[in-house]
Amino acid sequence: MQVNGQEVRKIMVTGGAGFIGSNFIRHVHERFPEIELLNYDKLTYAGNLENLEGVTGGYSFVQGDIQDAARVEDALAGVDVVVNFAAETHVDRSIHDPGDFILTDVYGVFVLLEAVKRNGRVKRFVHISTDEVYGSIARGRFSEESPLNPSSPYSASKAGGDRLAYSYFKTFALPVLIARPANNYGPYQFPEKLIPFFVTRALRDQPLPLYGDGSHCRDWLHVDDTVRGLLLLIERGEPGQAYNLGADQERSNREVTREILAILGKPESLVQAVADRKGHDFRYALDWAKMRALGWQPQVAFADGLRRTVEWYREHEGWWKKLVEKKAYVSHLRKNYE
Ligand code: NAD
Ligand code: TYD
Repeated sequence: MQVNGQEVRKIMVTGGAGFIGSNFIRHVHERFPEIELLNYDKLTYAGNLENLEGVTGGYSFVQGDIQDAARVEDALAGVDVVVNFAAETHVDRSIHDPGDFILTDVYGVFVLLEAVKRNGRVKRFVHISTDEVYGSIARGRFSEESPLNPSSPYSASKAGGDRLAYSYFKTFALPVLIARPANNYGPYQFPEKLIPFFVTRALRDQPLPLYGDGSHCRDWLHVDDTVRGLLLLIERGEPGQAYNLGADQERSNREVTREILAILGKPESLVQAVADRKGHDFRYALDWAKMRALGWQPQVAFADGLRRTVEWYREHEGWWKKLVEKKAYVSHLRKNYE
């Protein structure tokens, strides 16, 4: 892999023990075995080193917080590319406890950017933002030029980090690129987000708490497609630019729930209507022509990706059972759903 005609030797992945970060590390490790990978992760409740089991050789792990300037500075030694996945990511948790979202998703991004600025040799800083920074859209799609109008403490913090990253490009000429992916799904996703949450509950014949009337829509992008898009951005993206990564695979939450139940052969009576999420964004939809122009397009059809994902959870009960039995997980469910 090359940037500016030079070989990339070392990538620092922050948040590499989470869902998308660990899929990114696995993919790069397989496809570019010559690249050294450093996973810098705080290991919050969402970080899990089991996501990286079997990844050895040319891979190292540092437990650290992106808010810790000295530790980040040390970790940056010899790094050519930084990909920042580290974040607090769950909308529902941001409604109950927004503090950590502001600290990690805004202040942590600032600490990283400052460290990269001082370091002076990083060739690309790819910041993972989200489609949620635009807010909800009833019809049509958001382009990268659309105004940001986030509506949850999660998306508002992500919008802060997104624009802070841009400001370091504009003000200090840092080679920053911003990715705004749609809802991701696939293996190793923590079982609090819609798909893994419902799959792991349906497997245990537990009720599936569908918010409101279930008509809210999300666009579903398989994590493998996201990873391919991010690699393309490292190589061909233009610093200072934001890029939408959409899938054109819009489904209502009720449709997704039905598809999961059909794959598992479970009854629709498991669906339980619960009170709507506060400030619930109705729909996200992206125009991703800019990524298409770079040569990217999603390859995983939702029906196939969902079936494979459900199979993965069925076959990896040992991975998710431990997580859903943790006290903190059970108390999150109680706080959120009771
Ligand atoms: P995740 O919650 O699965 O993983 C987040 C990782 O970051 C965890 O390993 C956690 O330990 C680590 N982390 C949290 N705070 C940290 C800190 N202060 N310092 C260091 N590490 C810290 O998240 P994910 O779903 O893999 O999302 C990755 C990124 O992609 C996030 O920035 C998220 O906002 C963005 N994103 C996610 C989706 C999605 O559908 N999952 C969609 C669009 C954008
Ligand atoms: P989620 O996976 O939390 O992602 P996001 O809110 O960041 O898009 O939720 C996806 C959709 O599923 C969202 O519209 C909320 C809905 N949802 C439920 O109906 N019930 C649930 O228990 C969860 C976790 C989500």
